[in-house]
Amino acid sequence: MDEAERLVAPVQQPDEGAVELSLRPRSLREYIGQEKVKENLAIFVEAARGRGEALDHVLLYGPPGLGKTTLANVLANEMGVRIKTTSGPAIERPGDMAAMLTMMNRGDIFFIDEVHRLPRVVEEVLYPAMEDRVIDVMMSKGPAAHSVRIPLPEFTVVGATTRYASMTSPLRERFGVTYRLDFYDYNALKEIAVRSAAILDVPIDERGAMEIAQRSRGTPRVVNRLLRRLRDYAQVRGRGRIDRDTAQLALAMLEIDALGLDEVDRKLLLTIMEKFAGGPVGLDTLAASISEESETIEDVYEPFLLQLGFIKRTPRGRVATPLAYEHLGKPMRPDQPGLFQ
Ligand SMILES: Nc1ncnc2c1ncn2[C@@H]1O[C@H](COP(=O)(O)OP(=O)(O)OP(=O)(O)O)[C@@H](O)[C@H]1O
Ligand SMILES: [Mg+2]
Repeated sequence: MDEAERLVAPVQQPDEGAVELSLRPRSLREYIGQEKVKENLAIFVEAARGRGEALDHVLLYGPPGLGKTTLANVLANEMGVRIKTTSGPAIERPGDMAAMLTMMNRGDIFFIDEVHRLPRVVEEVLYPAMEDRVIDVMMSKGPAAHSVRIPLPEFTVVGATTRYASMTSPLRERFGVTYRLDFYDYNALKEIAVRSAAILDVPIDERGAMEIAQRSRGTPRVVNRLLRRLRDYAQVRGRGRIDRDTAQLALAMLEIDALGLDEVDRKLLLTIMEKFAGGPVGLDTLAASISEESETIEDVYEPFLLQLGFIKRTPRGRVATPLAYEHLGKPMRPDQPGLFQ
């Protein structure tokens, strides 16, 4: 299945930009869940504001759709500063990075999404910019070549990544603070559903919101997507209101099970169980047998299945756990490795 057609995919889909923007919290107060991160950031923001300084550089990491971009924008709002946004793969040459940096004004936030994908030569421009707020620009070529140091105003880099492990350590070390966003619990997801429903102007009750929460894989982006689909369903088949019955009927029709797993998750689990006797199976082998990219499995499917305890990563590969067998109603062989992990 194409990732773009997957209802429970945590990654942003092509037509979702505008609606996500309208549903995006603007302040820490509106930002639901992630209590620890919020508490720390509130102090961090207040202290910087009190001293009249720019924020220290912030790195946000965690699975897709959990609110990294949202939080970067919230930080700019809370600080009352401008935010300039780019992404790792968009900056190809050192000169492009240097040009962007020289455009920073005092206090600005420079948001770099997918920061792990910055080319190494581009990263090297960023190191002194983050550490000493200077860039070194090479003047002329050949024997007359020399570099000129250009000072930059006080500014803040906010980096976001779904792949902390792929970042180089020199880059990681230049962020003063690092926060990991975790999957949201049901209550936070329910609150997000209620908040978004109010913005979309669709009536919803607590139990309807909880049905959405339970099937959203701990991910606000999925809450908002399911909510929009249920709104259509309620309008056409129900009485325009999302209650528990409407939610259950619609979600069953969409083939999303009680834990938010869909066809692709089931296929992945069944492949481990049936083709590889429960595992361990190497990531690349698994990817090839379900015709997916290894990276997609690692970034998109696996984090939530790991969180549920349905698969485990072992040194020899992925293993399906007894919980996964139970959920899919499949019997295990007594000698299966997953049994004893
Ligand atoms: N804490 C939150 N409270 C309410 N809504 C949220 C929260 N976090 C995220 N959302 C909603 O989820 C959507 C996706 O969040 P966001 O784009 O910030 O995720 P992301 O972590 O940047 O994802 P990606 O890794 O794909 O870039 C947002 O448009 C917003 O509406
Ligand atoms: Mg983002």
